[in-house]
Amino acid sequence: MAGGRSILSSVVASQLGTHFPYGGVVPELASREHLRAIVPVVRLALERAGKTWDELAAVAVTAGPGLVGSLLVGMTYAKALCFARRLPLIGVNHLEGHIHAVVLEARRQGRCIEYPALALVVSGGHTHLFEFDQGPRYRLIGRTRDDAAGEAYDKVAKLLGFGYPGGPVIDRLAPYGNPEAVRFTLARMKGNPLDFSFSGLKTAVLRWVEQRDLGAEIQARRDLLARSPCPTLRQWLAVTPQATLDLLASFQRTVIEELLRRAAAAAETCGARSLILSGGVAANAGLRAAAAGARLPCPVYFPTLELATDNAAMVAAAAFPKLERGQFADFSLRAEANLRLA
Ligand code: KG4
Ligand code: ZN
Repeated sequence: MAGGRSILSSVVASQLGTHFPYGGVVPELASREHLRAIVPVVRLALERAGKTWDELAAVAVTAGPGLVGSLLVGMTYAKALCFARRLPLIGVNHLEGHIHAVVLEARRQGRCIEYPALALVVSGGHTHLFEFDQGPRYRLIGRTRDDAAGEAYDKVAKLLGFGYPGGPVIDRLAPYGNPEAVRFTLARMKGNPLDFSFSGLKTAVLRWVEQRDLGAEIQARRDLLARSPCPTLRQWLAVTPQATLDLLASFQRTVIEELLRRAAAAAETCGARSLILSGGVAANAGLRAAAAGARLPCPVYFPTLELATDNAAMVAAAAFPKLERGQFADFSLRAEANLRLA
């Protein structure tokens, strides 16, 4: 739940435990878990905000993009709530949510995003670069041609027996490796120079693994995960030789370089006055440190860790300006797996 300037409560129902044994999100299980969680989560969010149903001004819902089964659960619930309580409905794009989480937090800290702004949304499904103004009008100026950055993390982690999701564990282990140990060649883009590509990097990691005999160490990590789903750093380090730590550090360095290089080029090209980095991968400690030390042409903004990965507060944050403008949806609003922001 969010007021105009603050988050009154934020409840996240994690499904990681459900998907974890499968090494990735299983769509059918995701919708079932959404269905189970939605009523208790909304009740808890109200309770923690100290609000009653009668005090709600509107209900915001993610219309897409995403897994359609999960989107449908939220959409149906939101419409039912609006119908029963006679509340206005607001449709939000998931990526807009990631961007507005940062806008809201900046405002809360008394910092103001200056426009035109750039937003690089880096998540499990997207690596999208938007230019936007206060309208807000969004213009997609770059995107991944293949894998998203988070997807590359998840695939590399899966390949090496680190489980799912891959980003957090690689992020934790990368500081223990030498980021210069493995030189990956960065993808050269034909066409739009602001597009990204991560599948070549993923394949290079695969080749590196194939050229070595890593069967035993990968199995040791899988066994560790089977014993304890959330291993400690020490446990991970005990089953990860230095060469693999070096690989992880080099992989992460390459991803970060790729993201920051294009973001900086885009900011230069567009004359951006602020750069927002958002989405699950924006939780990456290496990325945050590198951005702080990088020579970027404008100030850079990250979400707090709680608002980096998916959450409902960011949806409320994106809905608030729509509420102020009276930009409501009717009950024909549909959940769309590939909904575009621009
Ligand atoms: O935004 P998000 O929570 O869900 C999607 O919209 O996809 O992003 C999830 C993605 C996953 O691929 C996950 O591995 C990645 O974000 N991620 C990270 C970190 N935490 C989550 N990637 C790198 N470093 C992290 N610390
Ligand atoms: Zn997301």
